[in-house]
Amino acid sequence: MDLPNVYLREDVVERFARMLRYDGAALDQVAADLQQQAVARGQRTLSLLDVGIGDGGFTVPVLAYLERTGVLDYHLNCLDVSPHMLSALEAALSAHSIPGSRVKLLLQDARQGLGEHGGASIYDAAIVTFVLQYVEKWRGVMDDVVRALKDGGILLQAEIAGEMKLVDGMFDTDSSPEFKSFWREYFRLRSEFCEFNPPIRVSDLSLVRQYIEHERCLEPLMSRVFLWDRKVKWLEMCNWIQWGPVSSLGSGLDGGQMAVLADRMRAWVAARFSGADPDYTMRWGFEITWHRKCRHGKVE
Ligand SMILES: C[S@@+](CC[C@H](N)C(=O)[O-])C[C@H]1O[C@@H](n2cnc3c(N)ncnc32)[C@H](O)[C@@H]1O
Repeated sequence: MDLPNVYLREDVVERFARMLRYDGAALDQVAADLQQQAVARGQRTLSLLDVGIGDGGFTVPVLAYLERTGVLDYHLNCLDVSPHMLSALEAALSAHSIPGSRVKLLLQDARQGLGEHGGASIYDAAIVTFVLQYVEKWRGVMDDVVRALKDGGILLQAEIAGEMKLVDGMFDTDSSPEFKSFWREYFRLRSEFCEFNPPIRVSDLSLVRQYIEHERCLEPLMSRVFLWDRKVKWLEMCNWIQWGPVSSLGSGLDGGQMAVLADRMRAWVAARFSGADPDYTMRWGFEITWHRKCRHGKVE
């Protein structure tokens, strides 16, 4: 079953789209790597695809870097199934002064294909970050993306790293005992409702990697981990549990169950901190993995 896409709801987009911002320096580095790869291959242009771009939190700063440096003549085709996310994206593009001619937005459900952005051998690079967890048949989406890459084209993906992995039920993660006990309690309570079994874990794309490397002839190129600190309130984390915008939290739960779990965790916070809500400094980030499409990539 697909994970419900909370971003189809305007109130969730408004509430959360800007809450967990990625680190600007990390995205500058991603953009610099992308630019360097292209320049090393003698390219002067860069055609990009982003599937499930959301409000552009990942990709707009990358475009802003390309715009600033002016080394490559770039263009982005992007799509998302949420009209609210696309509105937020338009605002972000304008805030970063990205010319409209550089970007083509498309309202499209990637489960139905890439629409007018699809085809064979079109893009130098494709970005697919934190979207596959919403799609049970993610292999079909990856097939479309691989087909749309040129030979030698690059696929960029991201996995959650750092303490945020606990939010995804990954407890072999360095973190404070307090943060661990919060998430242990959450997973203990949620197991009363259902098993935590998202189609894809946002902090572990090994299934996807296996598929694209063994079935679709993409070769791993490199990976880089970026970590940064963010102050967060414990009650804010209870809101994540209620609305499910972070990671695969909503997997298998309905809205009522998410609200019950959030209330129980609010009670846990109240008991633990005697009614206060102190800051917690969470060290989180992402690991960016790069794959290159081999010549003669196997996509029927
Ligand atoms: C967690 S956000 C990630 C956004 C962006 N890729 C990033 O890294 O910041 C997930 C996005 O995937 C979009 N999405 C989910 N299912 C989708 C589908 N079937 N087709 C296209 N977009 C989808 C959501 O609407 C949302 O904007």
